[in-house]
Amino acid sequence: MTVVREVGAEGGAPPATVVLVEVGPRVADVVAVLGRLTGRGAEQCRVLTGRVPVVVLGDVPEEDAGAAVAALRAAGATAEARGSAGAGRSVPASELDRALAQGRERPLPPEVERLLRDVGAPPRLAAHLRLVHDVACELVDWVRQYSPDLVVDREAVLFGAATHDIGKALHVAELSGPGSAHETAGRALLLARGVAPRLARFAATHASWTDGAVTLEDLLVSVADKVWKGKRVTELEDLVVDRLAGATGEERWEVFLALDGFLGGVAADADRRLAFHTAFPVVGGAGSPAAARGPEPGGA
Ligand SMILES: [Fe+2]
Repeated sequence: MTVVREVGAEGGAPPATVVLVEVGPRVADVVAVLGRLTGRGAEQCRVLTGRVPVVVLGDVPEEDAGAAVAALRAAGATAEARGSAGAGRSVPASELDRALAQGRERPLPPEVERLLRDVGAPPRLAAHLRLVHDVACELVDWVRQYSPDLVVDREAVLFGAATHDIGKALHVAELSGPGSAHETAGRALLLARGVAPRLARFAATHASWTDGAVTLEDLLVSVADKVWKGKRVTELEDLVVDRLAGATGEERWEVFLALDGFLGGVAADADRRLAFHTAFPVVGGAGSPAAARGPEPGGA
């Protein structure tokens, strides 16, 4: 089976989108096919199968989309290619669909995806949240490996990373410019939708780490929100070093070197993330290809 590659706007063939409509009874086979098609790990592919109908490939050449659909059908699934030459009987995925499905980043938690659709989130916001959530996954797992005795609420960190800027769905100008109105608005939005305060708080805390009540979970979300684009904030990282040194009993300089090495590795991939980020429009949650694109690459 040929691995389907994703192509950019410069690709010569008409782009198509592959939608997994139903998984069918052979879930493991479908997961294996999804892994080959998308390059994602088995865990991420299983998440996709729980979310049908779902876009599994976006902007691939039409012939590759056809091959992907055939492979999924051979595994017992129902799948279809959209936005190809049969135009008129199918609809291309929206920009928001693509921001939620494209790329190598982990999918957002299903409840967060639903929330973003409900509020008509700008595609760039969805892309940004995926990037920060993915880096937060890496970071929290590194922390737990580095300091197994340190209590860290992984679920809270991941939810916080996945929703921290949701207030920008209401204050869209803050996606590409300065402003903090999204912080309290984001927390209020989450609380109004029944999210527990311990999870909603990140929307209001992610941009401030000097408060004495800041938790390790708050710090990890804030670090992820910086390092995804290669930004390093010494004052913020020092606070994480303090927490880790206190938990492990190691010398501060040793912890600093370990954290610095890990974050340096994450930051090394910043250019790829920024390219993904800016590929999605600041406005146009309904999928308008003519939607305006913001001027600042790492604004969110
Ligand atoms: Fe952010």
